[in-house]
Amino acid sequence: MTSTATPESGQLSIARERVLVLDFGSQYAQLIARRVREQNVYCEIVRHDLSAAQIAEHAPRGLILSGGPSSVYAPGAPKCDPELFKLGIPVLGICYGMQLVCDTLGSQVTSAPAREYGRAKVKVLSHDGLFAGVADEMDVWMSHGDQVTKVSDDFIALAKTATCPIAAVKHKSLPVFGLQFHPEVTHTPQGNLLLHNFLFGVCGCTGTWRLGDFAKEAVAQWRQRIGEGRVICGLSGGVDSAVTAALLYEAIGPRLSCILVDNGLLRKDEQGAVVAEFTNHFKADLHVVHGEKRFLKALAGVKEPQEKRRRIGHVFIECFKEEAAKIKDVQYLAQGTLYPDVIESGAAQNGNAATIKLHHNVGGLPAELGFDLVEPLRDLFKDEVRRLGGELGLPDDLIWRHPFPGPGLAVRCLGEVTKERLEILREADAIVVNEIKAAGLYRQTSQAFAVLLPVQSVGVMGDARTYEDAVAVRCVNTDDFMTADWSHLPYELLARISTRIINEVKGVNRVCYDISSKPPATIEWE
Ligand code: XMP
Repeated sequence: MTSTATPESGQLSIARERVLVLDFGSQYAQLIARRVREQNVYCEIVRHDLSAAQIAEHAPRGLILSGGPSSVYAPGAPKCDPELFKLGIPVLGICYGMQLVCDTLGSQVTSAPAREYGRAKVKVLSHDGLFAGVADEMDVWMSHGDQVTKVSDDFIALAKTATCPIAAVKHKSLPVFGLQFHPEVTHTPQGNLLLHNFLFGVCGCTGTWRLGDFAKEAVAQWRQRIGEGRVICGLSGGVDSAVTAALLYEAIGPRLSCILVDNGLLRKDEQGAVVAEFTNHFKADLHVVHGEKRFLKALAGVKEPQEKRRRIGHVFIECFKEEAAKIKDVQYLAQGTLYPDVIESGAAQNGNAATIKLHHNVGGLPAELGFDLVEPLRDLFKDEVRRLGGELGLPDDLIWRHPFPGPGLAVRCLGEVTKERLEILREADAIVVNEIKAAGLYRQTSQAFAVLLPVQSVGVMGDARTYEDAVAVRCVNTDDFMTADWSHLPYELLARISTRIINEVKGVNRVCYDISSKPPATIEWE
């Protein structure tokens, strides 16, 4: 096995067999990469205009040209290096990728007579290669305005739909294929089979990418790379930092120091659970900073959400720096940066992602801390991180914890943040989460929490009039947190949540359920 370490990125490259996705601006580029990895083939997204020589350096087994919003014939449309078709590396163009392949290799692309968005039925014309084992007719997901209207003699049409006579193509002499529809989305039920045929049948991949192996290799390689150095790692209570710390603990044991800044804005029992895990299970050197008073002082009188975030970020860095200064001989700072952060930071699209990994600071810790970064998860998607957490022995409760924003309960305590208001919110929030867990719906829900509103309303309890706080319950389902739908929870569950909050949380007499989608609403209220 070969592995390389590039000091500027703190990155270890472990995979032997890889497929590259050239990104032409598709909203599905990440999804393509995930689908490939699900088939145990390591996959990375790179910018579309890497030269053929740069691509060849990475010896990929296959290339996938993604979709994109442009028209290939429009001025300035993104193109790939035409030389890459001479490398002998199999190419699969998807949607815009197929149009580009055909356009580059001498076929004709025009605006389609009818735009096609949504489900379509494809008739397979040839079961060779890509379509091996696929039914004669299959449902697919289309999303295009242009289409290939005429192919040169070098191409064979493999499939058609009622409005798209050339819905899939194969080059006669080169290992080059195109699909007008999207095999990566679930609305194309046989899409995984098509990708499987491309990866294994055409590219000759063996499917050796395994997370268990990744864990073992990453542990061994980070152990070697860090040598006798000491690493500090901030723990937030979330899965990314926990898996980062667990992996590094396996690698370097007591030379890992973890810092948990308790900002007084954590959920009920959250700090205790993290401390227990990292002292009982992993006997890590754990430093807990009790910062509640400092954070609340900084937040006193502040109502504006961005100002809350700014102040919390500032105090967090101060607390972290002070604690880190107490730890001797620190060389490295570990962060739980994930692959989507790397992609979203533009490293994949704007930098030469295949050759240069740009640093994206997600933890909010500034570069002037002066440590070298260690980012062992930066090649992984969230679901892979969760599976890796399982491989490393972290408990399900921690691995499946919903994401929690850095500014914590402060952005769920609308208006001024005080210890008393946080206490009300914390209790209400614990009821929401516990009831959803008890109903067995926690994993199906992406995020579930309570929000304390800056509103009092009139109620009646016993014979007395009350004038107390209102709590909103927010539960959403989402794949990527960019868009989200409110969770359609059973009425009985909502009723239990409401009754329990009003009965058990002193100071609350009204509960509302948030039925807004994102967009136009956001997941958090602030
Ligand atoms: P919104 O509210 O923008 O949230 O729909 C999308 C996702 O981001 C999380 N979020 C944050 N995470 N610091 C964070 O670390 C923040 O300031 C922050 N604001 C929102 C939110 O919980 C959701 O998962």
